[in-house]
Amino acid sequence: MRSIKNICCIGAGYVGGPTMSVIANKCPEINVTVVDINANRIAAWNDEDLDKLPVYEPGLKEIVAESRNKNLFFSTEVDKAIDEADMIFISVNTPTKTYGKGKGEAADLKYIELCARNIARVAKSDKIVVEKSTLPVRTAQAIKDILHNTGNGVKYEVLSNPEFLAEGTAIDDLLNADRVLIGGDDTPSGKEAKNILSGIYEHWLPKERVLQTNLWSSELSKLVANAFLAQRISSINSISALCEVTDANVAEVSKAIGKDSRIGPKFLNASVGFGGSCFQKDILNLVYICKTYGLTEVAEYWDQVIKINDYQKRRFAENIITTLYNTVSGKKIAFYGWAFKKDTNDTRESAAIYVADTLLEEQAEIVVYDPKVSEEQVYADLDYLNTRSEEENRKLVTVVNDPLKAAEDAHAVAILTEWDEFKALDWEQIYNSMFKPAFVFDGRRILDKQIMNQTGFDYYRIGEGK
Ligand code: NAD
Ligand code: UDX
Repeated sequence: MRSIKNICCIGAGYVGGPTMSVIANKCPEINVTVVDINANRIAAWNDEDLDKLPVYEPGLKEIVAESRNKNLFFSTEVDKAIDEADMIFISVNTPTKTYGKGKGEAADLKYIELCARNIARVAKSDKIVVEKSTLPVRTAQAIKDILHNTGNGVKYEVLSNPEFLAEGTAIDDLLNADRVLIGGDDTPSGKEAKNILSGIYEHWLPKERVLQTNLWSSELSKLVANAFLAQRISSINSISALCEVTDANVAEVSKAIGKDSRIGPKFLNASVGFGGSCFQKDILNLVYICKTYGLTEVAEYWDQVIKINDYQKRRFAENIITTLYNTVSGKKIAFYGWAFKKDTNDTRESAAIYVADTLLEEQAEIVVYDPKVSEEQVYADLDYLNTRSEEENRKLVTVVNDPLKAAEDAHAVAILTEWDEFKALDWEQIYNSMFKPAFVFDGRRILDKQIMNQTGFDYYRIGEGK
């Protein structure tokens, strides 16, 4: 079996950066070069100050510190890294299309195609090309077509190796993956390529956790895994609405049903709605694929998961407006958290953005505190929606670096991200600094209801009557 000496990963984002850092750390005999066209991102990966890495993940900086500039390199020299590599991971973004056919649903594959063409143009020796990005089922066919038609005699094997890490726990997920999925052709060279990639993961994972399948099962499994996970959240969120009007308690319901080993306890936390760069994008993509195959009922079934998520975000915002006597105009509302979940600086599709947007439409004044999200990012997220002018967003929204300051003279605090530090805040001091009645809307169910009520707050949380 061929041995791999040089790996190149195209795309130094939330997946490429952490994944390659772990591979380099666990395979000291392999040189790993992560390349990106975004020079600022590469500069941040190379920053001496490890707190300036472009991705915040618990445990990441320690791993980068151990391996960087030994066998882990971050570079903008894409062609050079492709040329030198035996194995090339494609880990670029595959966002929802914002134009043309499939707009708002299909995955935009232009970056993937650019990578394939770049590899085809540069490669002079045989390569194993690995799809790490999440891709519509059958994309590998397009990649093969591009690579195999160069006529320069270079041989390629295309593998699908989707990533299952979740942000905020990426390093732990990579080190202790439930499974690694490797799809490829069942030809002798396809099998060899699958075994070579399996061997890399077997440096730290037991062999039985590495699953080999055909290409299409692997590509499709990634979309299906995300659809099933998101479906659980939408299912419990739909029940949270019913709990609020019946005096049932969604946490008690989750616990009760999760004890059934056929259901299981994970991913049953009712919330203000799921966010992140994956769930919505991948379900929309699944819906689009089903439609293109004429499977209308299947498409509609999965589309409901998104619809309930939109409903949940809207419901949370509308409850704030209704509870604050049907007007939030000119009222200061403190947002605790902007990231789509705790322990990440990623804000893509965060529920906070959409809750803010609804409240801003009602002329609320929002003060945001998030321990890892910058002011520029908050404004960029709101500007991207194009709901109002950039000036108006800056007039109505302030970003502060102190949660106590955010709550001063506020009518309400809304908890949008479940950062642990919010539980430890001095809520009595917060109460004293707010307008009365002082409202707290807990979109993550992280605070103790009894203590909050005793402190004097009007405390509301998802999935429970007052
Ligand atoms: P990201 O936006 O953080 O990173 C992608 C990077 O690719 C960017 O830095 C971009 O500049 C770079 N890039 C784009 N085109 C390029 C090109 N032609 N050459 C070189 N660099 C290029 O995205 P991400 O969150 O890391 O996601 C990457 C893929 O992994 C997506 O398909 C996503 O669906 C999938 N995924 C993401 C997660 C997650 O938690 N974020 C988890 C599993 C899978
Ligand atoms: C997800 C998948 O979990 C991961 O396997 C895949 O590789 C990428 O997509 P990620 O989006 O990073 O990972 O985080 P995840 O932990 O799945 O959370 C997604 C969203 O769902 C967050 O907004 C989170 O707060 C929310 N969530 C999660 C809930 O509202 N309730 C839950 O019970 C779990």
